[in-house]
Amino acid sequence: MATSRRRAPPIRIRRATVKDLDVLVHQRRQMWRDISGSSTEDLDPADAAYRRWARQRMQSGRLVAFVAETKAREVVAGGAVWVREIQPRPGAALRRQPYLLSMYTEPAFRGKGLATKIVKTAIAWAKARGFPSMTLHASDLGRGVYEKLGFRMTTEMRLRFARR
Ligand SMILES: CC(C)(COP(=O)(O)OP(=O)(O)OC[C@H]1O[C@@H](n2cnc3c(N)ncnc32)[C@H](O)[C@@H]1OP(=O)(O)O)[C@@H](O)C(=O)NCCC(=O)NCCS
Repeated sequence: MATSRRRAPPIRIRRATVKDLDVLVHQRRQMWRDISGSSTEDLDPADAAYRRWARQRMQSGRLVAFVAETKAREVVAGGAVWVREIQPRPGAALRRQPYLLSMYTEPAFRGKGLATKIVKTAIAWAKARGFPSMTLHASDLGRGVYEKLGFRMTTEMRLRFARR
């Protein structure tokens, strides 16, 4: 009789822990480098600041990260949900809203649906906790991924009065 042992999928999505901070900082840095071509001078201090910021929020439960990991336990993609405070407004019972950030897939693993799986995992995480929506800011490469999953443009405006 044939056995029905199921094969493990080649790449799995799992929740990250603070032990993954090195790779989460790496993903964040590469994301910004790809999006804005930031210089090493700008990226280096941002790494340290993000590590501190992310560690505190992961420990308090306000930041939840997900990573895609190969069978060899190499992390090849990731993304995170930051549960941020929002202002009171009519019809909004909750004062917090999940915000998706730090989406990054290593170049050799792009176009395989990993970012899509991570966004779906993040959405499922947020829905399971009763949040009615999720927001993000999309890069040119990310926009299609988010739109396919139902994200739509909103009315946010920005006035730049300094370079940064
Ligand atoms: C945006 C990003 C996270 C998408 O990651 P990904 O794992 O390639 O995403 P997916 O495979 O789920 O979807 C990629 C889409 O890009 C296209 N694509 C197909 N092959 C591709 C390839 N070899 N490389 C890149 N994109 C490809 C397809 O349109 C695909 O959608 P579809 O296959 O469902 O039609 C990744 O390109 C990245 O890290 N970019 C740099 C950082 C960045 O912009 N992050 C987003 C910040 S908002």
